[in-house]
Amino acid sequence: MDGRTTADAALRAHDRDHHIHGQTNLRQHSEGGPVVMVTHGDGVRFTTDDGRRLIDGFSGLGCVSLGYHNDRLAEAAKRQMDTLPFAPTFYGRSHPKVAELAERLTTMAAVPMDRAMFQCSGSEANDAMIKFLWYRNIARGEPDRRKIVSRWRGYYGNTVAAVSASGQPHMHSRFGLPLPGFLKLSTPNYYLQHLEGETEEEFSARMAKEFDELVLAEGPETIAAFFAEPMQSGGGAIRPPEGYWQAMQAVIRKHDIHFHVDEVVCGFGRTGHMWGAEAFGLKPDSVSCAKALTAAFFPMSALLVKEDFYQDMVRNSDEVGVLGHGFTYAGHPVGAAVALEALNIYADIDLVGHVRRVSKRFLEQCGALADHPLVADVRGIGLFCGFQLMADKVKREPFEPGRKVGIRVQDAAHDRGLYLRSINPDRISFMPPLIINEDEIDEAVAIFKSALDAVWEDIR
Ligand SMILES: Cc1ncc(COP(=O)(O)O)c(C=O)c1O
Repeated sequence: MDGRTTADAALRAHDRDHHIHGQTNLRQHSEGGPVVMVTHGDGVRFTTDDGRRLIDGFSGLGCVSLGYHNDRLAEAAKRQMDTLPFAPTFYGRSHPKVAELAERLTTMAAVPMDRAMFQCSGSEANDAMIKFLWYRNIARGEPDRRKIVSRWRGYYGNTVAAVSASGQPHMHSRFGLPLPGFLKLSTPNYYLQHLEGETEEEFSARMAKEFDELVLAEGPETIAAFFAEPMQSGGGAIRPPEGYWQAMQAVIRKHDIHFHVDEVVCGFGRTGHMWGAEAFGLKPDSVSCAKALTAAFFPMSALLVKEDFYQDMVRNSDEVGVLGHGFTYAGHPVGAAVALEALNIYADIDLVGHVRRVSKRFLEQCGALADHPLVADVRGIGLFCGFQLMADKVKREPFEPGRKVGIRVQDAAHDRGLYLRSINPDRISFMPPLIINEDEIDEAVAIFKSALDAVWEDIR
């Protein structure tokens, strides 16, 4: 179906000729133009310029928690724009909404936090955390405690420090990154990486041993923090195996390592808990959150730290004066108003309870796809599920990369009315908006299955 007008075609040409896209093959874009031009949305669906309506099985980028239309959020934004469209948070200046949001977020965190700093993106929140760790450690007389440990395939953002923590080689190459002192551990992908006969618990113990050995080799006194997502969204919805977090947190405690938990995707209900930390029993020392903080209606993130961490930072002010860090739009009044209203909505509709209820159906149906000849492993929690596609699931043989099996499944799903993300190597991430209902889950999973069938027919 191509319902595009001449004006639509002109917009596509403007985009092809004038717009630089991130996470995009620039050669392909400059030749073919946008893959999809989304024009509007409602509920869990968005519409493209050729008139097609698709279920969003990836929540935009894991952020559209309340779907594509919400009167309360739109009114909150309008009210705030009418009252106070901007106010800086530099130089000790503030405004009511950001003060209210700081109190609200710190008290609702999985482990109570005391201080919030606001930024505009998850990358900035994580980047700020890395800077603040370095800043705090100088105040504590430990200037050499600078190394950041994280995991391959983890994703913490794109700013220079956050991307150095990210374990995505394509985001490092040709940028001269990562910065020195950013250390990586294995991805806890049990299916792909377990040894023959190794149980999940044994695998988890091996992962923790790798962590312990790295810390000992580098010197515990040089480690500023361990950064992790409760369930890795980066790398394609990788749910950690049994015993993983208990074993990893034992190493964290043994060496007294600062544990920074990235709740950018997991936060605000994705796992069927308000926080991913609650889902997996994590005890964070600091937290970053974004995305569903404003239901993606406004770019905003928050970094949450405890009082002792903040007081160490305060001591620097006695020597250097102001905290030399900040963004013009940090703590934006419209963002803060939208975030407060999003949190009100989450409570009013019991979003976490809803996710718990519908995720039973979602996970059951996703789990049933494990029998599909293309699908080797399915793991998820809440409305967050990852699928590993393999040529031979028993021998764990991947498809030859040139066959682009994951992309073909993604495209076949798209053609049938479902947006999903394929992530290399041939992993599918499925994470619909949190307001999805059971009928929509049935419809989305049926489309996914029909896409898998079509690709299987094609390649078998
Ligand atoms: C877990 C996680 N952390 C951080 C980020 C970076 O957030 P942003 O894209 O808002 O900078 C992302 C982005 O997808 C993410 O998935």
